[in-house]
Parts: sequence; structure tokens; C-alpha cells
Amino acid sequence: ARITLRQLLDHAAEHGYGVPAFNINNMEQGLAIMEAAKACDAPVIIQASRGARSYANDVMLAKMIDALAEIYPQIPVCMHQDHGNNEATCLTAIRHGFTSVMMDGSLEADAKTPASYDYNVAITERVSRMAHWVGASVEGELGVLGSLESGHGEAEDGHGAEGALSHDQLLTDPDQAVDFVARTKVDALAIACGTSHGAYKFTRKPDGDILAMRVIEEIHRKLPSTHLVMHGSSSVPQELQDVINKYGGEMPQTYGVPVEEIERGIRHGVRKVNIDTDCRMAMTGQFRRIATEHPTEFDPRKFLKPAMDAMRDLCRDRLERFGTAGNA
Ligand code: G3H
Ligand code: 13P
Ligand code: ZN
Repeated sequence: ARITLRQLLDHAAEHGYGVPAFNINNMEQGLAIMEAAKACDAPVIIQASRGARSYANDVMLAKMIDALAEIYPQIPVCMHQDHGNNEATCLTAIRHGFTSVMMDGSLEADAKTPASYDYNVAITERVSRMAHWVGASVEGELGVLGSLESGHGEAEDGHGAEGALSHDQLLTDPDQAVDFVARTKVDALAIACGTSHGAYKFTRKPDGDILAMRVIEEIHRKLPSTHLVMHGSSSVPQELQDVINKYGGEMPQTYGVPVEEIERGIRHGVRKVNIDTDCRMAMTGQFRRIATEHPTEFDPRKFLKPAMDAMRDLCRDRLERFGTAGNA
């Protein structure tokens, strides 16, 4: 059954759990997420980026979600637009059956340039008003996702939006968060606490200087009834790096967000936890293993099935550790 983000996160807040939001691009990822949810009786958030929508086609994605909901009728599914960049992206998502949208107004519509606060408030408020007319939920974002390790990650090559920003500008300002939520009426607020997208978040196991969980605690104190969202929440597990590298990969050593830090966030108002990279790595490790161990294999299913199983196991682990399990 379909559920909105608001309905799901209200339940999560009431019962003190968090919900991972896994990205979808294809059927195998959809099945992996739903199999994991079924195995532990959990509701799910499935999210599609703009890239996913153009990769899979809106119609394909919409019908795939219909199919997943029909195959797994017992699992509540929230279908969410990840990082919507303008009104059109958000409204076309809703038109295709998404029950929730993120209006990411922290960046200008080109999704690269940091936006002014006024721009962010105005566009998020507009999307929020329109989505609420038709019963969909809205996530906004305040602060810029980016590594707090200067000279590392996206900032290094100047591609990241955070390249020109200082340490403090990257983190969400708690007082501004209070104003933002009041003015935009978003159902959930994505905050920046030093994480970034992708595999290369930290060059060492993160401490409180580079992963600022205290920011979350302060925002939660000021906004106790706002559902908080952590982006860039892949843990980039060593085991997954090792599998990829054992079978011919060349991923440099890297560190993600430890699951115990996410669990700490969940104790302080974090309700939605975005995970894409870990799922990608779980699948890719199996592609590489099969290609290496069975070099004569050419049936895609022989690659995709183990990849799906590895992603299912990863998803189930997060559903259990975040307390989502048992709440379907
Ligand atoms: O926001 C980042 C997500 O991992 C989606 O990535 O834009 O490559 O689909 P993508
Ligand atoms: P990761 O790259 O850490 O998986 O983050 C995904 C994300 O935030 C999607 O919006
Ligand atoms: Zn994100």
C-alpha cells in the first residue's frame, strides 16, 4: 500500500525509529528493497533521483512501483522524489504517483550553485503549498552537503557546490532551521552535518570535527517535532570495499558514516536516512565477483541475482538497525 512520507515519519517519531530511504533505478533494486522489507516486516521509502527518472523513464518507474506494491501488498511504500531541483520536477513526480517530493532549494536549479536563503524559502514554500493541495509530502533542505575535511572529496576538484564555502557555511544553522520550517511548512527537513554524497566522504573514521552530529542534536532541541533527514548516509563498509577490490576493483581506501552515528541521530529526531552508495557497492561487488570467478558466464541473471541478494541483505541490516523492522 502507498503511504506518504508524513504518515510514515509521524509513525516513526511516535515509536522512536528511523527509516532508510533507498534509491531505485531498476527492477532489481526495487525487488531487493521489497524482499528486505518483507523479511523483517518493515515499511520502506523508495526514492528516485532525477538521474534515475531519466535512466529508467517515468512511466517505467511508475509502473514498477505499482508492481512492487501489488507483489508486496503488506508493505507500506512511500515513493519519494530525491533532490527535486524545481517545481516541474516535483509536480511531474507527483503526477506519476510519487507520494512525496524533496524540493532541494539549497542549490540553484542547476543543482551546482549554492542558493540564497530567500530563494530556498520561496521555492520550497511554493512546492510545499502545491504538494499539500494534492496530499503529497515535502522534504526541504537547509545547509549544503559537503565534506568538512578541507581539500578532500568534491571540494578538491571544485565540482562540489561546497567548494567555495567555509566550514560553518556547510552546516545547517539551527536558528535558521526554525525559521525555515515555519515559513515553508515542510514535512521533513534535510540538514547538513558534514556528510557528502558518494563513496569518498572521509579519509579517516570520522570524529566529531568532521561529522557534526551535535548540529543534529541542537536542531532537534529547537525543533522537537520536525522530522530530520540525513543525506549522504552510506556507511561505505570495509567489507564491501574489500569485495570490490578483491575482484579487480581499484577503489581507494575511504570511510563513510558509521551506522552507530546514524543510530545516535535517530535518538535525536533523524527519521529518514538516505542510502544509495552502499546499495551500489553491494551490487557491484557481486558483478565483479561473478565476472572474475566465472569468466565464461554471459547470462545477466547470473550477475544480477547475487547482486540483488547482496543489496537485499544490506537493506535488511539497515532496516533492523534503524528500528524500522516490525513496523509494517
Ligand atoms: O543524490 C544522490 C543519489 O545518490 C542519486 O544519485 O543522481 O547518480 O542517481 P544519482
Ligand atoms: P550516499 O551517497 O551516502 O548513499 O547518499 C545518498 C543520498 O543522500 C541520496 O539523496
Ligand atoms: Zn542526497
